[in-house]
Amino acid sequence: MRILFYAEGGKPEPWLAELKTAFPAAQLRVWQEGDNEPADYAVVWKPPLAMLQPRAGLKAVFNVGAGVDAILQFGDALPAGVPIVRLDDAGMGVQMAEYVTHAVLRYFRRFDEFEVQARAGQWRFLKPHDKEHFSVGILGLGVLGSRIAQALAHFDFPLSGWSRTPKNVPGVQCYAGQEGFDAFLHNSRVLVCVLPLTAETGGILNRVTLGRLPPGAYLINVARGAHLVEDDLLALVQNGHITAATLDVFHEEPLPPAHPFWQEPRITITPHMAALTLREDSVRQIAGKIRALERGEPIAGVVDLTRGY
Ligand code: NAP
Ligand code: GLV
Repeated sequence: MRILFYAEGGKPEPWLAELKTAFPAAQLRVWQEGDNEPADYAVVWKPPLAMLQPRAGLKAVFNVGAGVDAILQFGDALPAGVPIVRLDDAGMGVQMAEYVTHAVLRYFRRFDEFEVQARAGQWRFLKPHDKEHFSVGILGLGVLGSRIAQALAHFDFPLSGWSRTPKNVPGVQCYAGQEGFDAFLHNSRVLVCVLPLTAETGGILNRVTLGRLPPGAYLINVARGAHLVEDDLLALVQNGHITAATLDVFHEEPLPPAHPFWQEPRITITPHMAALTLREDSVRQIAGKIRALERGEPIAGVVDLTRGY
């Protein structure tokens, strides 16, 4: 078996070692510019189009992340008929749950305000928020969104979720499609975005949609920077409609030093770390799927190119 590996900005050696442990007899190689040689499987993160050109023998491309936007941007230039497979949780769900729960609790218990007071040497009690009016709305009820909902349910927050197709998640008020979108927004004091980036979801967090959140809302974006119109958020934070935001992802990463978000204390910035790819878990999952494919069995996590995730 020939496995081709490429990960933008990452060290290939630990991945090759992990893949070698899973498939001791496999021929493993790191893709280099000009390598058009045959391969059975490709394991990739943000590959250049040249790597994804039609390649003899290629049976599947495994993305070592949940989001496949960096691959699907190549559209019709992708090799026809070769399945692209995303990571299904692989240890990311619990990390997302930790990140979002932390952010929601920080705002709910007003730790952000206590931090400001403490820096000013102020000992001042602030009345807690009313949980009944601290509803959390999750954009995207897939692998990661449903894990976030499960974690927040432990703290009795009123929960709602929005997806493309209708869902029935116990304890979560479910909305679907465009027809459910406005009601979902009106009902979300804290908006969490964990959508895939597609033609339909780019720019979905903008002046109009964020303006439909209740006054004093909070935004947590752990999906992709391109979901958010950054200037619109800044204006809404500065006019007080949005109280604060926690952002893990940005249009340009790393966030440029001159970006106005750095100067806005109500915007909390993290460097795209909400849910990291865990190498061991990922290779275990990919190896299991390769074995299933070799046996001729179907696998989960194959990306639907038409819907874009
Ligand atoms: P997923 O399992 O594919 O779930 C996607 C959810 O979004 C589904 O519920 C889907 O609806 C919904 N959705 C998609 N398009 C929609 C639309 N147009 N309108 C309404 N709902 C829509 O994806 P996932 O594994 O949860 O991952 C989500 C995203 O998180 C990834 O694509 C990636 O960009 C991001 N991510 C970020 C980090 C980080 O560290 N910041 C880490 C991992 C992932 P249906 O259920 O109806 O299909
Ligand atoms: C990370 O951003 C991922 O999509 O897995």
